[in-house]
Amino acid sequence: MCGIVAYLGERQAFDIILKGLKRLEYRGYDSSGIALADQNGLKLYKKQGKVADLEHFTTGKNISGSTGIGHTRWATHGEPNDKNAHPHLSQDESLAIIHNGIIENYSSLKQELINKGHMFRSDTDSEVVIHFIEDIRNNNACSLEEAVRLALTKIVGAYAIVVIDQNDPNLLIAARKGSPLVIGVGKDEYFLASDATPIIEYTNEVVYLNDYEIAIIRKEGLILKNIEAVQTNPYIQTIDLELDAIEKGGYDHFMLKEIYEQPKSIGDAMRGRLNAASGHLVLGGIRDYLNRLVSADRIVILACGTSWHAGLVAEYFLEDLCRIPVEVEYASEFRYRNPIIREGDVIIAISQSGETADTLAAIELAKSKGAIIFGVVNAVGSSIARTSHVGAYIHAGPEIGVASTKAFTAQVAVLSMIAMIVAYKKGTITETKYHELLVELETIPKKVEKALQLDKKSKAIAERFKDARNFLYLGRGYNFPVALEGALKLKEISYIHAEGYPAAEMKHGPIALIDEEMPVVFIATRDGSYDKIISNIQEVKARKGKVIAIVTEGDVLIPTIADYVLEVPVTIDALMPLVSVIPLQLLSYYIANLRGCNVDQPRNLAKSVTVE
Ligand code: AGP
Ligand code: GLU
Repeated sequence: MCGIVAYLGERQAFDIILKGLKRLEYRGYDSSGIALADQNGLKLYKKQGKVADLEHFTTGKNISGSTGIGHTRWATHGEPNDKNAHPHLSQDESLAIIHNGIIENYSSLKQELINKGHMFRSDTDSEVVIHFIEDIRNNNACSLEEAVRLALTKIVGAYAIVVIDQNDPNLLIAARKGSPLVIGVGKDEYFLASDATPIIEYTNEVVYLNDYEIAIIRKEGLILKNIEAVQTNPYIQTIDLELDAIEKGGYDHFMLKEIYEQPKSIGDAMRGRLNAASGHLVLGGIRDYLNRLVSADRIVILACGTSWHAGLVAEYFLEDLCRIPVEVEYASEFRYRNPIIREGDVIIAISQSGETADTLAAIELAKSKGAIIFGVVNAVGSSIARTSHVGAYIHAGPEIGVASTKAFTAQVAVLSMIAMIVAYKKGTITETKYHELLVELETIPKKVEKALQLDKKSKAIAERFKDARNFLYLGRGYNFPVALEGALKLKEISYIHAEGYPAAEMKHGPIALIDEEMPVVFIATRDGSYDKIISNIQEVKARKGKVIAIVTEGDVLIPTIADYVLEVPVTIDALMPLVSVIPLQLLSYYIANLRGCNVDQPRNLAKSVTVE
């Protein structure tokens, strides 16, 4: 959601910023813009639509300047159009700002400024910030840095901002609270971005800005101050991210590439942590607080979207293997309902991006009540990773497609390892069972590879159902969260209405929807509820619904009832979601593609949901 890119150095800023904005396109946006500063003043270009539209718009125009800021906007205040696109200018047009987030008290600030004669050119909350900074600077005759700082002490809400000044082109001022911002440190040059992807081709030395920190950047150096104007030391980290990890590598879409990466990404989640032959399973990141998990009275899982689905899978195996009660909470609900957190409770927060605003806020709330937070995060150095007490990275690598695929399976793999470690330490599983689990988990990448061979068959089924208006996804037990995930994947990228349900719940309502038009996807692998789900399939067939069944290899019964079957390799119930989700990802990918949808950047969606 929203992308920020800025540059200050010797090179021409425009090309670096434009390329950076393209790298951030995956986050989701509706308009874009760039402002450049040099001795001759400010140049501002903004356009609704894609970065390519901005590129086209600027062709032949003056784009010189070695300091600049660029933005892809995901509208919150004011519709997506040229005038609401960022950057925004101050009243006298000497300052420009880009902003990610929401300013909650913008309307009272705006009114005060209007009373003082300010005129606004957009409907955004962001424009108010730059007018406010200008007003403070004029009234206090202070430096821009001081004006930004004073403004931020009055601003309520979430922000990552970068400001430039036409009268001082060798200066960028950046700040954050709640929205991400990374500073790439080059030689006499600096790169700012919402995440590291636009930065890594120039430098792998980065500083992650913390909440309430202000960065004052000049070619001569970077100074960090907190909101009280006290200087702090920048902590420069070296990031380990390769350029090819953020490129398509021959695939038509990032989503397809990421689906195909899963044997490797699941393997990476286990690398160095699991060795079944020697009985080795260690997650270094959680060791310090492992006893808190082992002795937990209750585990509360906080997440949103696909990460929440991974949490639901974890609920099943944490309860099953560790005998600890688990509650899986939507972070957005948890944060606003005065939740009960007791001493023996432990929180597990799951997030691919590590920047989801609702999850972050839910974590802060739980922390304020004394809870210990275990983070299960993909994006290294992200806000959730840094705010958790301990955690385990899932090591899935950058996930660019908005629809999460490889992060889901890596999350489930890591959560299952946590459950195995805790169950073993707690003694709720036998030594033999523990070893069986490790051996089985180690085979999963191979099984996922096999499941990927369903590509052609999934595509053929997609051809048949691409024009359906509704889909139902049903599963029981461990496959119930998979049904939810399958439905979410389909609706996100194909815009077909899809619902996931526990299969047995169908008769309490959704069965009314079944007719000869209705495709129903059953995740019906051979597990403890196999016979039951066959009855559910019969119920759908009796009403002429079209059944697509995900079954275990060698199943001879379901193929005689279902219209289409997709066979996945056998594994134990607890790990089946890692395998059974694969054909559902392929099915939604192909349906969306055949419908001509923008698979990697579906409408209205953002990859990191940094606003609530
Ligand atoms: C997944 O396909 C979605 N785009 C979305 O539901 C996502 O899982 C959710 O926004 C949570 O994101 P996070 O894992 O980065 O916190
Ligand atoms: N609230 C701002 C706007 O609507 C910023 C949105 C964003 O983060 O892209 O312009």
